[in-house]
Order: sequence, then C-alpha cells, then structure tokens
Amino acid sequence: MAGAGPRFTGPISCGMAKPRILTGDTPTGRLHLGHWVGSVENRVRLQEQYDCFFLLANMHAYTTRADKPAEIRRDTLEIVKDWLACGIDPEKSTIVLQTEVPAIAELTWFFAMLIPFNRVMRNPTLKTEIETKDLGDSYSFGFPMYAVGQCADILAFRPELVPVGEDQVAHIEMCREVARRFDQVYCAVDPQTEDSDYPARGGVFPIPRALVGRVGRLIGTDGRNKMSKSLGNAIFLSDDAKTIKKKVGQIFTGRQSLTEPGDTRNALFDYVRIFIKDEARVKELERRYAAGDNIGDGHVKAEVAEAIDALTAPMRARRAEFEKPGGDEAVIEIIRAGTARANAVAEETLYMAKEKMGLGFGRRVVR
Ligand code: TRP
Repeated sequence: MAGAGPRFTGPISCGMAKPRILTGDTPTGRLHLGHWVGSVENRVRLQEQYDCFFLLANMHAYTTRADKPAEIRRDTLEIVKDWLACGIDPEKSTIVLQTEVPAIAELTWFFAMLIPFNRVMRNPTLKTEIETKDLGDSYSFGFPMYAVGQCADILAFRPELVPVGEDQVAHIEMCREVARRFDQVYCAVDPQTEDSDYPARGGVFPIPRALVGRVGRLIGTDGRNKMSKSLGNAIFLSDDAKTIKKKVGQIFTGRQSLTEPGDTRNALFDYVRIFIKDEARVKELERRYAAGDNIGDGHVKAEVAEAIDALTAPMRARRAEFEKPGGDEAVIEIIRAGTARANAVAEETLYMAKEKMGLGFGRRVVR
C-alpha cells in the first residue's frame, strides 16, 4: 500500500472551510470491485470530513477511443450511476464533468511546460498502459498528455488528498512534482520547503497526497492479473447475485480434494479476507482449508459470493432508481449542477495561477 506521502492521519487544515479531495475515474465501463476497495469506498467514507470533488475524466477516454464518442457518453453516465449506487451523495459532494471545465484544459498547457517531456514518458503507469492496452508506438499525442492533464485535474481544485488505487500513485507523484515546480518558479517558494508548508510559504498549490484504499490492487477472478474490465476478470458492482456466483466460481486454485491441506495464499482466500466481514469466520475458514478439514473450494466460493452480494445488493437497489425512464436526465442534471460549482473553484485557481505567471489581465466569468 504505497502512498505518495505520509500515512493518512486525517485532514491537516482545520480552518473554517473543509479541506478538499479531488479524485475521479475515466469512463471505460462500469465500476468493479477493484474500484470499490481501491478508492470508491474511501470516497464514500470521507464525504463528511472533506469537501469532495469527483471528476468524470471523459477527456481522457478520448485519448484511446476518440472514434467512439457514443460509447464514451454512455460510459460517463454509467459511472455516475455507479457512484450514486455506492453512496456518493450529490448533496454533499460535487460531481464534475472534465470537458466542461475549461480551466483544466488551460492549466494542462501551463503544466506541460513545467515538466520535461522525457519525465512524462518515463511515467511507469503510462508505460504499463501502453503494454497492456497494446498501444504499440501508434498511440495518439494526447495519450501521454493525459498524465499532464491529470495534474491539472487535481491541482485545479487545490486538494489536500487524492484517494486512488495503487496504479495511480505514479500520476500523483508527477502531480506533486508539478505543484512544487509551479510554486518554486512562480511563487518564489524555497525548494527546501517541506511539502506540507507550500501554501503557507505563498505557493498557489498545495502538494496533494495520494490515499490508497485498503486493497490497492485487487486480483481478478483469473487469479492472476489485476481486476480489469478489459481482461474479462472483473466482478462489476452492478452484477446480479447469479452472475457474482458464476464469476466467483471461476476463481482457480488448483486444489484437488476436500481433505488436501490448502494454501490460503491464493486469490480465493484474498477474497475471503477482503469481503467476508466476520473476522472469526475468516479465521475458521483459513484454519479448516489449511488443515484439509473437509472443506472444498466450492464451499468457500459460496460464502465469498454471498459476502459480495451482501455488499453490492444495496448498490444495485440504489442504481435501479436511475435505470428507470428519466434516469439519464436526472444524472445529467446532477452533472450540470456539480460542474457549475466546480467551475467556480477551478476558475479561482486559474486566476490565482495566471496572476503569479504574469498573466493577470483581469478576471473573467465562465458560466
Ligand atoms: N487516471 C484515472 C484512472 O484512470 C482517472 C483520473 C483522471 C483521475 N483524473 C484524475 C484520478 C485525477 C485521480 C485524480 O482511473
């Protein structure tokens, strides 16, 4: 569970306004259990303590699927439905559509000039994506640019915390570098300054910290790779009980008989430990499995599937509300209201940044 900063200890700044959180998802399909344990669970939990901004990174979807606008639009609405299903409350938190926040696009340009091209291309998350998505050497110019864009997504909201899955930590590290650089170059912050002191020393940008969820990297039902839609090893938050059962049933352990002592360091037992809430039951299953005490994979799988269903059934119920006629319109209304609020914050940030850059020519209004 690597974080890009010190361990999470709660909000630092306890002034009048709540400290902010910014995080988001690229609309690539529905959310799965990996999203939940990696980040979404944290977001739902932190809604009270923080002023939360949850970004729909739809621009980023175009970096690899520019020819699929209808799919991207559908996936964008699906993500909002998943967020609402998970308990993200638009009364408390702000849902933001990236392509309707012009300040993000503008900051992306400025930040692109504060980071060496080769530093971006060395970003390990980008490199992994180029391999796993088989992008070869024909990916768009905009593809690596999204990593710079992500710095702008975050910094436009000057947040303290960024709840993300482990795969995103490299991006947050780059964002921290950009924030330090901006503050040093344009706000005369001393490079020796502690990360937590940048705003106090006159920096426009705080140096935000990554917050990785209780499971940074959830293994998929293939028992081998990270859970991911494109690998076909994902259990979606919207899967029904029968589908969950079927998918959990596919987890392969290689164990032969009920009386064979089993190794609990397998994917199936990862799921036991992650999703079965009753600690005593987890210990009992581990003990019997390890001893070969007349317990089969099938039995363990049934309990895992039941635990996952107990977690996701209330999500499915909330989601159903937005799957009725008029659901898309309700979602679009939530996006519009949130994005209006987000623009007020992002415009303020851009104004502050431009002033420091010698680009202060008066305020403008984005409606
Ligand atoms: N890159 C993230 C992902 O694929 C999505 C994202 C875009 C994001 N902008 C962000 C996450 C800013 C955190 C902060 O999941």
